[in-house]
Amino acid sequence: MNVIPSNNDSSKANQIEISEVELSAAVERRRNFAIISHPDAGKTTLTEKLLLYGGAIQQAGAVKARGEQRKVTSDWMELEKQRGISITSTVLQFDYKETTINLLDTPGHQDFSEDTYRTLAAADNAVMLEDAAKGLEPQTRKLFEVCRLRGIPIFTFINKMDRPGQEPLSLLDEIESELGLSTWAVNWPIGSGDLFRGLIDRKSKEIVLFSRADRGKQSIERRLRLQDPEIKQLVEDDLLQKALEELELLEEAGSEMDLKLIQSGELTPVFFGSAMTNFGVKPFLDTFLRMAQGPVARNSSSGLIDPLRNSFSGFVFKLQANMDPRHRDRVAFVRVCSGRFKKDMTVKHARTGKNIRLSRPQKIFAQDRAVVEDAYPGDVIGLNNPGMFSIGDTLYTGDRVEYEGIPCFSPEIFSWLRNPNPSAFKNFRKGVNELREEGAVQILYDIDQAKRDPILAAVGQLQLDVVQHRLENEYGVETRLEPMGYQVARWVPGGWSIIEDIGRIFNCKTVRDSWDRPVLLFKNVWNLNQLKEDHPSLELSSVAPVVSGVDPITL
Ligand code: G4P
Repeated sequence: MNVIPSNNDSSKANQIEISEVELSAAVERRRNFAIISHPDAGKTTLTEKLLLYGGAIQQAGAVKARGEQRKVTSDWMELEKQRGISITSTVLQFDYKETTINLLDTPGHQDFSEDTYRTLAAADNAVMLEDAAKGLEPQTRKLFEVCRLRGIPIFTFINKMDRPGQEPLSLLDEIESELGLSTWAVNWPIGSGDLFRGLIDRKSKEIVLFSRADRGKQSIERRLRLQDPEIKQLVEDDLLQKALEELELLEEAGSEMDLKLIQSGELTPVFFGSAMTNFGVKPFLDTFLRMAQGPVARNSSSGLIDPLRNSFSGFVFKLQANMDPRHRDRVAFVRVCSGRFKKDMTVKHARTGKNIRLSRPQKIFAQDRAVVEDAYPGDVIGLNNPGMFSIGDTLYTGDRVEYEGIPCFSPEIFSWLRNPNPSAFKNFRKGVNELREEGAVQILYDIDQAKRDPILAAVGQLQLDVVQHRLENEYGVETRLEPMGYQVARWVPGGWSIIEDIGRIFNCKTVRDSWDRPVLLFKNVWNLNQLKEDHPSLELSSVAPVVSGVDPITL
């Protein structure tokens, strides 16, 4: 990647315009989504089955096998290996029928980090995966809230129907009453667990029969018309009657299918199935691709930017350093939002105004990389990043565009980061600054400037462990974490003068964020509510306002 003088953006790649027809065809064929779920709901299993349909992998088990392989490629991924978890988000692109699918993978551990939130900022659709026995679980709820903020369409897959689960009607009811999301069942299960017999396809009025295959083998999906007399021999009458009665209830009292409501994120199509036995996955994929929204127009400083805008634009939603420690590389993941991206193209970096030639863009499949020749709206590219890009940065050609930044989400865990060895301060400082830049963790500071140790603020404990592990392995500094016992953070948009006016706040610590803005830390929600009661007009925010064009405080 080269920074070149700002009046020169006449590289050959920039001169190759794309015809409207070509661009529109490329946008039309793209679909992009992320899976939101609680650990163990079956995300890895479902992903693997989806990739099998796309021909992106040849055998079941490959996603995990690939995982094993990649765990040896980077030191800090050693932590993943030790804990048997997946921390890194990756992007998987594959073709299925006429569609190019970008699956934005998110970390699977329940101590997930802000990475997951940011990845959702780059997604156009979400698949909410539930375990039929457990229903809605905490992590799914949190991730759902982020999707709701952006109003993206949500498709629900209720997994593990081959195991005893909750009543399907109560699973739907839970989504409706607790998430405030209307549901529309695309298919309906006949029985569950040992008595799971298959699905009724509501549209075609066919029964898709489930036949139990050996563990790990794909079950065969045999379809029969509902009136077919053979059904009586294959499905117990009471199970079928119960399913039909429930369906009737849904026809009478349930929501109607409405593509507009689905695409505005108000109505979720619900599918039942079993990822492990690959039952119900293909019908899900086919229907999902018909209903999911394509790459959407995105908000920017100059209004909504259509993906069909002829010039390239995109934004950085994730930074990852040292994916391969042998090269100590840093990769910025960019979501393409408009136009065509071409290798060697010169783009403008909105925050600094610099021109940059993107000579080695990469497509990243899990941890494998290939050089990208071109990319279109909905795609994600990886750019080598020698410290130039920050989360939320916009890259563009043509007229100036700057996308809305990605907010910092409210951390829930706070810990002093101590460096017991003063002679290692230089490396300590470098590590802390670089990890903050990368978005691995938020850094707060005491208001007393004499207290120089940074405060790590994270969404999950694992994020702190990763930072500590990386400081040791990549920067050679051993650190000590000292938990602070706070659980809630609120920004004060009114700034320091408001804090001074209020005076002393009990059971609360005031700190500064990396942009010298006041943040209040509370031990619990009760303490926060107390402050709100005492100062009803005080404005507080759980999401940090986006900053652009201002350099943060460094250690
Ligand atoms: P995650 O990525 O969401 O954390 O979940 P993952 O796919 O790893 O699945 C968690 C466990 O649930 C796995 O079992 C997996 O085989 C099982 N599972 C996934 N889908 C289904 C399903 O449709 N039916 C049933 N019965 N089980 C399912 P495990 O024992 O933890 O791992 P493994 O030994 O199978 O690899």
